Amino acid sequence: MSDAIHPRHASRRSRILTIALPVGLAVTMLGSLWALTDVAAVEVALPPQPAVAAQLPSPELIAVPVADPCAEPAVVAALGAGDDEAAIAAFGGGEAFRAAVVAGNAPCVSLTDPDRRWVVVNKAIPLDPIAFEPSPLSGAPLRTTTLSSQVREDASAALGVMAAALSDAGAGSLGMNNGYRSYRLQTTTYAGHVSSRGQEGADQVSARPGFSEHQTGLAMDVVACSSGCGSIAGFAGTPESAWVAEHAWEYGFIVRYDDGETGMTGYIPEPWHLRYIGPELAAAYHQGGHHSLEEFFGLAAAPDYVD
Ligand code: DAL
Ligand code: ZN
Repeated sequence: MSDAIHPRHASRRSRILTIALPVGLAVTMLGSLWALTDVAAVEVALPPQPAVAAQLPSPELIAVPVADPCAEPAVVAALGAGDDEAAIAAFGGGEAFRAAVVAGNAPCVSLTDPDRRWVVVNKAIPLDPIAFEPSPLSGAPLRTTTLSSQVREDASAALGVMAAALSDAGAGSLGMNNGYRSYRLQTTTYAGHVSSRGQEGADQVSARPGFSEHQTGLAMDVVACSSGCGSIAGFAGTPESAWVAEHAWEYGFIVRYDDGETGMTGYIPEPWHLRYIGPELAAAYHQGGHHSLEEFFGLAAAPDYVD
């Protein structure tokens, strides 16, 4: 599976890039912008202008359509350099990036590239290649309760900052159960669940090998370690869990398997399973009120395997 996953709205060919504009120019352009039915993203923050702000949608952002965002030099350069953060910035930020993907306006963005922060892995989208190994990996900078103690380097740095903030806020102490799991380890993990719950039960809580976010190095299961580290099953209801649910997005993480999303993700809620997507996308996810990565990127629900 080497092709990019195409969102449900892929036929809509709006071409948008968001750039900073002087307020006066932005306001002048507003009337004509509203006439464009395919404008899907707005990203220029305006300073306080009460009379003007009253005429603007919320958030006060303005989109400037361009012919092809994927042809923009800054986008091309960032993608070529493997700099996900710069690529998202070149699109105009997290929400502009998401909107372009959903609109089918970002063919240069592959949601199946396992090296990218925006990769989507679910029951319908396995890792490609199936035995992908992320790099660079780094030991997670917090207490770990298993030998699966590595995560991707960028996620590791963000995890350390988040864990420190959680402690500083008096919300306890964050530890990690599992981080990166190789294809081989996922095989063992999944087989263990099948043996204890049967295949149907296993599929609700554990990904089949090649279908787990843990294999990207961007996912981790966190635990509460205030008085000895607890289990993932004991994470819900802890101060650490409440803090993570409220603040993880500020550090680039989302709770991947949220309450009420089993029909979309195929998994029962896992308040402990965090997925690093970077601060720009996580802010867009939070501010947009999204609850699954599938919905965020306009992808089909993936409650079951395709087999
Ligand atoms: N528990 C999650 C779904 C995994 O195995 O990746
Ligand atoms: Zn997990």
